[in-house]
Amino acid sequence: MAEPLVLVKDKEGTIRYFSNVCTHRGNLVVNDPGRVRALICSYHGRRFDLDGSLITMPEFQDAENFPRPCDGLHEFPLLKWGPFLFAGLSAHFPMNSIIGQMNDRVGFLPLDQFKKEESHSKDYIVNAHWALYCDNYLEGFLHTYVYDESKLNNGTGAVIDKVEREDEWVAEGVQRGIRSAFYSSGRFSPTREQGVHQFHQLLVNKPLKQDRNDQKRKKKHSENDFPLTSQPLPGGT
Ligand code: FES
Repeated sequence: MAEPLVLVKDKEGTIRYFSNVCTHRGNLVVNDPGRVRALICSYHGRRFDLDGSLITMPEFQDAENFPRPCDGLHEFPLLKWGPFLFAGLSAHFPMNSIIGQMNDRVGFLPLDQFKKEESHSKDYIVNAHWALYCDNYLEGFLHTYVYDESKLNNGTGAVIDKVEREDEWVAEGVQRGIRSAFYSSGRFSPTREQGVHQFHQLLVNKPLKQDRNDQKRKKKHSENDFPLTSQPLPGGT
């Protein structure tokens, strides 16, 4: 994601999600993780509280009507589901609806007891849109052209790592390719790309489908008894 963002937890434990862009001249406010009492922009010293509001700014004593609410850091909605935090850049993005669907399917799992197992975890940075990575996962051509299936069936760590690298290589290549002025879209193989086709349909129809689901859901539950295992974070809008 190209949008600079910062996650902040205050001493009461309230977590908030902000734009990490200073409202003065656009410098990044936070460059490294750490403990601070306030968020201070290193360019001209604008100081923000951990709730995003502007505290002080040097040489602005004579500025009229300052600070205004928009001089604080822009805050994004944040939702907690079990141990996971979800955020959306658009205030209209129906996070409740999506998490509600996830909850319907896997909400019975003891999510709050989930722990990250570091020895089984590995980070991969993929310089591509997430949907291209999903495309790559769903399609059937890969087994023919990219993977060595005999090794794949071994399932060892080294093989899984190699497959992951191959996935990244493909997704990043597609990311560069689709920026071409000479590419618009390609047709789907009837035998190998049913999954990709369905995924693209979901992406195209998402707003309509979510609206319908929202309406159904509203009928079933009022806002107050929405069946999430966790409610929106305090102060998380
Ligand atoms: S850009 Fe942040 S204080 Fe000027």
